[in-house]
Amino acid sequence: MNAAAPQPKENMGAPLPRIDGRLKVTGQATYPADLPAANVAYGALATSSIARGRVTALHLDNARAVPGVLDIVTYGDMDAVDKPKFGNTAAASIAPLHDRKVFHDGQIIALVVAETFEAAEEAALLIRADYAEEKPSAGFDSPGATTVAAAGKSPMFKEDVKSGDFDAAYGAAPVRIDARYSTPTQHHNPIELFSTTAMWQGDQLTIHEPSQNVTGWKAELARQLKIDPAKVRIVSPYIGGAFGSKGPMTARTAIVAVAARRLGRPVRCVVSRMQAFGTQTYRAETRHRIRMGADKDGRITAFAHEGWEVTSRPDPYVVGGTSATGRMYDYGAVLTQVSLVQADRNTPGYMRSPPETPYVYALENAMDEMAVALAMDPVEFRRVNEPKAEPIGRKPFSSRSLMQCYDQAADAFGWAKRDAKVGSMHDGDWLIGMGCATAIYPTSSAPCAARVWLTVDGDVRVQSGSHEIGTGVRTVAGQMAAERLGVAMDRVSVEMGDSTLPPAPVSGGSISTASVCSAVLKACDAIRTKLFAAAIGEGGPLAGAHNEELDILDGKIIGKGGASAKVEDVLKTLRVGAIEEYAEYAPKGASPEALKKLYAGQPEFHGGEQDEDSVKYAFGAEFVEVRINRLTREIRVPRIVGAFAAGRIMNTRTARSQLMGGMIWGIGQALHEATEVDSRYARYVNRDLQDYLVPVNADIKDLQVILVPEIDREVNPAGVKGLGELGNVGTAAAVASAVYHATGKRIRDLPIRIEQLI
Ligand code: MOS
Repeated sequence: MNAAAPQPKENMGAPLPRIDGRLKVTGQATYPADLPAANVAYGALATSSIARGRVTALHLDNARAVPGVLDIVTYGDMDAVDKPKFGNTAAASIAPLHDRKVFHDGQIIALVVAETFEAAEEAALLIRADYAEEKPSAGFDSPGATTVAAAGKSPMFKEDVKSGDFDAAYGAAPVRIDARYSTPTQHHNPIELFSTTAMWQGDQLTIHEPSQNVTGWKAELARQLKIDPAKVRIVSPYIGGAFGSKGPMTARTAIVAVAARRLGRPVRCVVSRMQAFGTQTYRAETRHRIRMGADKDGRITAFAHEGWEVTSRPDPYVVGGTSATGRMYDYGAVLTQVSLVQADRNTPGYMRSPPETPYVYALENAMDEMAVALAMDPVEFRRVNEPKAEPIGRKPFSSRSLMQCYDQAADAFGWAKRDAKVGSMHDGDWLIGMGCATAIYPTSSAPCAARVWLTVDGDVRVQSGSHEIGTGVRTVAGQMAAERLGVAMDRVSVEMGDSTLPPAPVSGGSISTASVCSAVLKACDAIRTKLFAAAIGEGGPLAGAHNEELDILDGKIIGKGGASAKVEDVLKTLRVGAIEEYAEYAPKGASPEALKKLYAGQPEFHGGEQDEDSVKYAFGAEFVEVRINRLTREIRVPRIVGAFAAGRIMNTRTARSQLMGGMIWGIGQALHEATEVDSRYARYVNRDLQDYLVPVNADIKDLQVILVPEIDREVNPAGVKGLGELGNVGTAAAVASAVYHATGKRIRDLPIRIEQLI
């Protein structure tokens, strides 16, 4: 792997290292559960051992007898607070201690609080429950699981997109494919465990918990606890991996808050990795049927994508990736249909590129199958089907550099040297296969606020209640301020991850860089306006200059012909020690209530497929080489090249890091990752990092990220398209296509394992 960060090209920012990088790798970053808390008591969860039924009795005596046990919060103890409301903020409507009904395996039945972590754990394990048990349905193919149409069930998925007459077009197509694909259950498994520390000072509640949504959680937790949101503070300065898992607030947060209130002491609950599988969210398993028809020249004339997703009984969680797959190419007729399968499982949630990862996996496999059926090069097949406008609403793309990505990645990969004949390439005992696929991710942004100070000493302070989940957003927000205010990066400090800061939207949907940088840009521009107005006043070196001629560089306001004034001197003429600006960004098309909703923790997303003027996506192309041992069928990925275009790249190092991590995850999805579900008990089996496989260093060899320059002024003021979730879209399909090229076996069910290739 090449460690040097890519040199910035047009419309790209400097590859500065992350400002939190050293703190994280030297152990100085204080994660929420690391924060010292005086007199803290420790919580441990007891969870159900059945997936469906009722708790008829709880036996707590043995747990209470453990020395150091202080309290057990269980049925009846949450009656005075409200249940979680499934939606944008709460992970599920399941309120585990409000009623004795069991919806899934591993559901919380009690929280033990003790003087030590060990005592709490021991006591939690001694809690016994009696159940009235019913036979659970684990998911697909389980008797008793209910299949319903997804559209309209939740605001997350409004409609099954379609266009034209699919049946007629498919019936008339000379070349057709009809194939089924599947993706498994996956759990995020961030290295940092899930935890909640609740501290009350009088009626003020402070929660330390890793969170992608401090403003949303403040509002939802206050609603559940029936207290004023102004009395709730969520603090989450460092997050050790999230990927969506720390976006929704789970039932535990309010339970720990209630425990701390009744004990009159801070309570900290760190959830074991095993228990996290059932008490947090996850990526549900999906199935797909794709039918595609094409004419002899390779033009797609008909495309149908049906998807099925598992969810819990009470909550219609849906990802519905047909919104993107239905708009990907110039298809002719389009038909889509998404269905939910309700089973006795915990409610799923968003996990990195939630809709695209499974749905584009199916689409891009089908694209490769169709290219084979047409005897076309898969890159050329995609070129032939490049759309001028998306096929559903006939809206233009705000920008679309997909074929530039294909061409640059193909070139770097050496695609031209590929012998298209299946099974024709090998090296000793290793069969070689090469495949490619498209990556796509919707470009959205949401309302966001930021505060920026510039002091007379040339220090800049940036605040926004966004979240550094490892993406580099703190760094790029600082870079935006440094660039606009003409200071070096080491003079900039950036605060995030606290609900007392100016509100920012949930750090999900790859919206953070675009939303935060647009707000920071606006605040900085307001500071510039004030500075410039003062600088062009009488008597100074820039007297009479026009605003638009001015810029700030290295602490100086620079005018035409080399005239300049020190920022410090301009601030002195204003008789202030600092300029502070508070700015609110609202995306184009935002409703009149959009900013009010931001403060209430309900930010509106704009962009993607929703805007009137255009559809907005970031694109990429990924090329993979696989080597499969002729005898053992061991599968290796020695090489992967991805080229991506995502508007303005704020920082080529953090961008590459996100894309690289995404592709590595894509290899994991292709070859390693799956939560195994025991269908008899609707129970997750491999609930630890020993048995839940993810790629390790030895699995990743040569990995190249190419950043393709792109300018898009339509997406948002910062010109940024999110890319945090782009990299792992398409990777698994590229691997599957390469496996086919090497072996002639089309593996349609992930993950691809040795046993499927024997
Ligand atoms: Mo990301 S799965 O939208 O947190």
